[in-house]
Amino acid sequence: MKHPLGQLRPLDTADGSLSLHSEQFDEAFHSSAGALQESQAKFVLPAELGRFRQASELKLLDVCFGLGYNSASVMHALPQTTPPRIVWWGLEVDPRPLKWALGQQPFCDLWPGVVLQRFEQLHRSGSWSDGGGQGTMLWGDARQNLKALPSSYQPDLILMDAFSPGHCPQLWSEEFLGALASRLAPGGRLLTYCRAAAVRSSLRRAGLTLRSLLPATRHRIEWSSGTLAVKPHTTDPLAMEGPGWTVLSEMEEEHLNTRASVPYRDPESVDEAGMIHQRREREQQSCGLESTSAWQRRWLMNKNPQHDSNVT
Ligand SMILES: C[S@@+](CC[C@H](N)C(=O)[O-])C[C@H]1O[C@@H](n2cnc3c(N)ncnc32)[C@H](O)[C@@H]1O
Repeated sequence: MKHPLGQLRPLDTADGSLSLHSEQFDEAFHSSAGALQESQAKFVLPAELGRFRQASELKLLDVCFGLGYNSASVMHALPQTTPPRIVWWGLEVDPRPLKWALGQQPFCDLWPGVVLQRFEQLHRSGSWSDGGGQGTMLWGDARQNLKALPSSYQPDLILMDAFSPGHCPQLWSEEFLGALASRLAPGGRLLTYCRAAAVRSSLRRAGLTLRSLLPATRHRIEWSSGTLAVKPHTTDPLAMEGPGWTVLSEMEEEHLNTRASVPYRDPESVDEAGMIHQRREREQQSCGLESTSAWQRRWLMNKNPQHDSNVT
């Protein structure tokens, strides 16, 4: 049987946590700086889980569950006293990463028993249920399975962790991001490591307020480590700054006016990556927007000629 991810190769990351590399997507599941560190800096910290101390429920949607670091980190970091009941859904095409992770002692050592029991249940039956809540995994293409979630389900948090737009544009399309945004509860947050202009522009057009995740390390020259996108809440407006995030800089705002901001389009939610890229390249050629390399020269090259900016 051909697996959607092709062959999976184990990887060590710099904080000692384990990850995988997908042959088919030609991409690692996590930053080489650390799988655990990434889930904490880019998902747990900006989620501000303390907000849910008095809440009766936390609705959590994990898009691209993989080994499960993001959900496990959130579950582990929830307030211990009067934690909210979790109503969890997961979207993931390949069950092998979870199976592999559960067989690795260093991975299991990271999490409390309650999290591991939920993951074991997910692996065995695709769902979990205990005194702290309940969860269901929808195995298969997230584009189709998102439509299968109950229409009343409005997540407070969406953990969006697809492979990069260059390798997996299917899950960064205007349509898919719009569908995620429309599900968010008022005040709900979508978190992602992705800072691409096309993705940010789609999220903004979908009505979300954007914030930039601060670079995770001080040692690397970076301008953002991801995006926090929030569904506006009339009575509780989003602050300009919070833990691990701030407003988009002038440079980041200008990035959204360049050709890089042309969205990935997938009108029927069935197209393959190549088709989506071709469609976008055609639109970029005729869009009349500033080239992204001109923006890059203006903001990045002059300040730091060695900057290796992988700007998309
Ligand atoms: C960057 S990894 C996610 C890492 C994960 N969050 C973790 O903590 O290990 C991307 C994941 O997206 C999944 N994926 C790729 N295409 C998908 C699709 N069309 N629908 C659902 N999941 C998909 C892959 O199987 C992979 O597990």
